[in-house]
Amino acid sequence: MSLTLHPFFDPVTSSYAYVLANPGSGSCAVIDPVLGYDLATGEIDTREADRLVEFVRANGYVVEWLLETHVHADHLSAARYLKEHFICAQTGIGDRVGTVQAHFGRRFGVDLVPDGRQFDRLFANQERICLGHACGRVLHTPGHTPACVTYVFDRFAFVGDTLFMPDYGTARCDFPGGDAATLYQSIQRIFGLPDDTRLLMCHDYPPSGRSHRFLSTVAEQRAANVHVHQGVSEVEFVRLRTERDAALAAPRLMVPAVRANIEGGVLPGWRIEPRLEQRVGAGEAA
Ligand SMILES: [Fe+2]
Repeated sequence: MSLTLHPFFDPVTSSYAYVLANPGSGSCAVIDPVLGYDLATGEIDTREADRLVEFVRANGYVVEWLLETHVHADHLSAARYLKEHFICAQTGIGDRVGTVQAHFGRRFGVDLVPDGRQFDRLFANQERICLGHACGRVLHTPGHTPACVTYVFDRFAFVGDTLFMPDYGTARCDFPGGDAATLYQSIQRIFGLPDDTRLLMCHDYPPSGRSHRFLSTVAEQRAANVHVHQGVSEVEFVRLRTERDAALAAPRLMVPAVRANIEGGVLPGWRIEPRLEQRVGAGEAA
């Protein structure tokens, strides 16, 4: 299997999106695409997504998949926007997304049926996924959210927020349905992949002096992840993760991001902006 990987970094949210292509078939998957959003004005910024569209078109790829590793709480997904450009692409996410939709739908007042119907494909654990003749699998890796998945193609594994770079650690587990012990078990499953598996990050928050990076390996994470390297017990990890989560603030874009993403993303000017205006208006009147 000869696949090529193209990362796209969004500096505003420190997020990585990816195009994973099978040059043999000309098909590709877009993983965790980002739509810009200005919290102050409610305006959507498609520049990063448009850069991705131009790249795909310049290379003549056909987008088969628009994949989410999970419902992101820190940025808006561009999947629905990209589907306007690549009309044959299917959106996909883990098949437990209904749990996340139910939790967040209630909390943020989103009127939706929480069964995943907003996405074209819901992936079961270990389900096969193909790019032309290059087939991978979907690994359920819950913990950060109950519906997180890792997409494994050959020696590439798109881990979402399950792991960050070794010097930063792991994702928070304090969102509704999140669970540190479950995340620990999911990470052990990722550590069971071959040592040289390339783990693609969804974010990077580098310490000063280090530039942004998007890739580590199973061997590097097992040796050096500051939260969960080999030898850290589940009890130790849960204690550390719980203490850390108690001190974290909510992500800046959490409300608009979750509202959009539990419905599979939004189109520019659609729903998010009017809802915010209503919220602001109600607050001022009070
Ligand atoms: Fe996340």
